[in-house]
Amino acid sequence: MEFQSFWVNGRLFGFLFFMIMAHNANGDVSYSIPEEMKRGYLIGNIAKDLGLDVSMLSSRKARIDPEGNRKRYCNINLHSGDLIVADRIDREEICEKKAPCVIKQELVLENPLELFRIILTIEDINDNSPQFTESVIKFEIRESADKESRYLLDEAHDADIGVNSVQSYTLQNNEHFLLSVLTGANGGKYGELVLKKELDREHQKEVTLILTAVDGGTPPRSGTVAIHITVLDANDNAPVFSQAVYKVSLPENSPVDTVVVTVSATDADEGQNGEVTYAFGHLSETLRQLFLLDVKSGEIKVVGNIDYEEKNSIELPVQAKDGQGLAGRSIVLLDVVDVNDNAPFIIIKSLNSPVPENASPGTEVGIINVQDRDSENNGQVRCSIHQNIPFKLVPSVKNYYSLVITGELDRELVSDYNITITATDEGSPPLFSKRYIHFTVADVNDNPPVFEEQNYRAHVQENNKPGSSICTVSATDPDWRQNGTVVYSLLPSDVKVSAVSSFLSINGDTGVIHAVRSFDFEQLKSFEVLVLARDNGSPPLSSNVTLSVLITDENDNTPQILYPSSDGNSFMTEMVPKAAQAGSLVSKVIAVDADSGQNAWLTYHIIKASDPGLFTIGVHSGEIRTQRDLSESDSMKQNIIVSVRDNGQPFLSATCALYLLISDNLAEVPELKDMSHDESSSKLTFYLIIALVSVSTFFMTFIIIILAVRFCRRRKPRLLFDGAVAIPSAYLPPNYAEVDGAGTLRSTYNYDAYLTTGSRTSDFKFIRSYNEGKLTADMTLKKTQSALDDLGGLDSEIDDSFQIQHLPGLN
Ligand SMILES: *[C@@H]1O[C@H](CO)[C@@H](O)[C@H](O)[C@H]1NC(C)=O
Ligand SMILES: *[C@@H]1O[C@H](CO)[C@@H](O)[C@H](O)[C@H]1NC(C)=O
Ligand SMILES: *[C@@H]1O[C@H](CO)[C@@H](O)[C@H](O)[C@H]1NC(C)=O
Repeated sequence: MEFQSFWVNGRLFGFLFFMIMAHNANGDVSYSIPEEMKRGYLIGNIAKDLGLDVSMLSSRKARIDPEGNRKRYCNINLHSGDLIVADRIDREEICEKKAPCVIKQELVLENPLELFRIILTIEDINDNSPQFTESVIKFEIRESADKESRYLLDEAHDADIGVNSVQSYTLQNNEHFLLSVLTGANGGKYGELVLKKELDREHQKEVTLILTAVDGGTPPRSGTVAIHITVLDANDNAPVFSQAVYKVSLPENSPVDTVVVTVSATDADEGQNGEVTYAFGHLSETLRQLFLLDVKSGEIKVVGNIDYEEKNSIELPVQAKDGQGLAGRSIVLLDVVDVNDNAPFIIIKSLNSPVPENASPGTEVGIINVQDRDSENNGQVRCSIHQNIPFKLVPSVKNYYSLVITGELDRELVSDYNITITATDEGSPPLFSKRYIHFTVADVNDNPPVFEEQNYRAHVQENNKPGSSICTVSATDPDWRQNGTVVYSLLPSDVKVSAVSSFLSINGDTGVIHAVRSFDFEQLKSFEVLVLARDNGSPPLSSNVTLSVLITDENDNTPQILYPSSDGNSFMTEMVPKAAQAGSLVSKVIAVDADSGQNAWLTYHIIKASDPGLFTIGVHSGEIRTQRDLSESDSMKQNIIVSVRDNGQPFLSATCALYLLISDNLAEVPELKDMSHDESSSKLTFYLIIALVSVSTFFMTFIIIILAVRFCRRRKPRLLFDGAVAIPSAYLPPNYAEVDGAGTLRSTYNYDAYLTTGSRTSDFKFIRSYNEGKLTADMTLKKTQSALDDLGGLDSEIDDSFQIQHLPGLN
């Protein structure tokens, strides 16, 4: 034991005082010394204290004996009489805990034997540190332990006593425990750990603290021990996700089994307490069918079709549970990334179909809207028409387009359009869709009717049947329905002096042109009328064409013999000189035919002669020549009947008689009258009778007409056209009327004609027709003045009727 700070003032005084006391009280000598003094340490001068003479110490063999068989702790210096420490004095060894600790030694002097008791009181010095029995104090504390729980700690032992024994404990500074120091029944101090803050195994699995026991020595000594606390697990931790929010982006239409994300949660607890299983939180039914969460691995997979257009962000609550049911939560925020999976679609917002063909370029005829459910570029749509048609799309606000006409439309060329609109988005690859629009072009009356021919010629045989069709005009109008419906009419004009309507009528629908009357080539060889074709548009368009009516001749006129005149009264006689030789010209028959061409090509034949061999007649010239020389034997009077025949089919003929007198002297002419009388008198009588009857019939008719006109004027609205038609004789050769040889060309007509002028239809209705087909050449057309007046309003009448009455021709 080392020498301690012995020379502290307080102790020194106490020590001196004690030594004096001991000396005085016992007679023996007693000393008090600290333990663990070095050998040779001067305890005191025993010689002096006992009053012994130092010089005799050695002679008296002074020595120190231990009492009994004990150890000798001190010795005496025989020269000085000093008592010094001879052996180590360890109080703890000698006295342990006993106090005071006293060692008894004896000073033995011989010669004489003297015994002195030396009492050494050993004072404790702090030469022992507190000590713990074990080097480590171990605890197992469950982390769920409550605050203020106490844990008893082993006591520390210190061999020293009194104030040098354990006086206090200190605990290493820590956040969980406090130390409470208590004094036991034996006065020993011990400590308790007090939990001041709950343990957390997950935070700190083990706690190691140093507990220090300190004694009260000067200086104090201390001893330490480690407290090792193992924190036992309690299920005090819920699983915790690695992220509070998992942000993931996922392309739409990701295939099934695509891993979206793997969530992971950890549970700080151990064992079952730390076993984590995963599940979705509350999910809508639709989302449940889209995603699957693996219970063990936390892997979220796609199992359905993710559609950006349906939902572009998805929130999946997930939870993790440990074996005891503690749960942790997190959210997976799915940002669905758009994929160009939607083709644009075209909506026709409005369509002005049909569009009139005269719509000007730039007219808007429709509005189109395009939409694409995708976003951004995938939803940017361009719309166009890739056709060579006069339409285009003009982008308007937002996704609207105007369908605009860019050129002229013509329904007659293209009546409808199939417009194909293509919409393409800007995704990659782009998607497109098409929409077809059927556009019809509405008609506008922009085309006049056009006749098929530039002009029409109708060839009509004279003496045609009234009402017979002579020609058909036809015009076409490409416009639609009534705009293209052609109605024909005749433009009012005059033919000769009569209105054209009295010559021709036209069927407004068919363009068939009818003759209203029978034509007479000899009076009218041709005429022209304008035929109008008008459509039914509003306003109507029209065009006209010239119709030339060419009347062709028919053999309806008998040859007319101009010479010899067949006037009954004057029998012309030709003188033939007796000396006339064969071939000499005797006379000439002159005849004309009102017809033309073959019908007027006349041939002359002698059909009867008093002396058939005597005369011949030139077939074409009509010249009568002697066939042979005349002789005396020939009769003086010669009769020749000549027939003049035209070349028509069938031919018509006229005859005349020629009286030839073969004589050189007119005086020789006998009574000539007798010559012809026998033949002509009976005929003459017949003609006279006919003339008489005709005159009286004419007169009667005239009276009737006058009466009828009077009657009609009183009861109008019905227009009675009542005319006796006569062709003026001025049209005929002057003496034509007097030629009466044929007497066959007579006809009587009595028919009603219903004419509608200015309307679309016209038709004739023949009530009766007598001797039809022939108009007498010499028929007179006559209108009473009243009938002419009424004719002025004819055009406006819807259903007029007029009656043409042909009277028997009068010669
Ligand atoms: C448009 O389509 C219809 C039927 O699809 C067809 O009858 C018509 O001829 C077409 N028109 C044009 C101008 O192509
Ligand atoms: C005929 O044309 C007119 C315009 O000129 C138009 O208004 C009308 O609708 C057309 N008629 C038909 C049947 O197309
Ligand atoms: C007949 O047509 C011509 C042009 O072809 C026109 O000048 C004339 O006015 C028309 N006549 C009538 C009466 O419409």
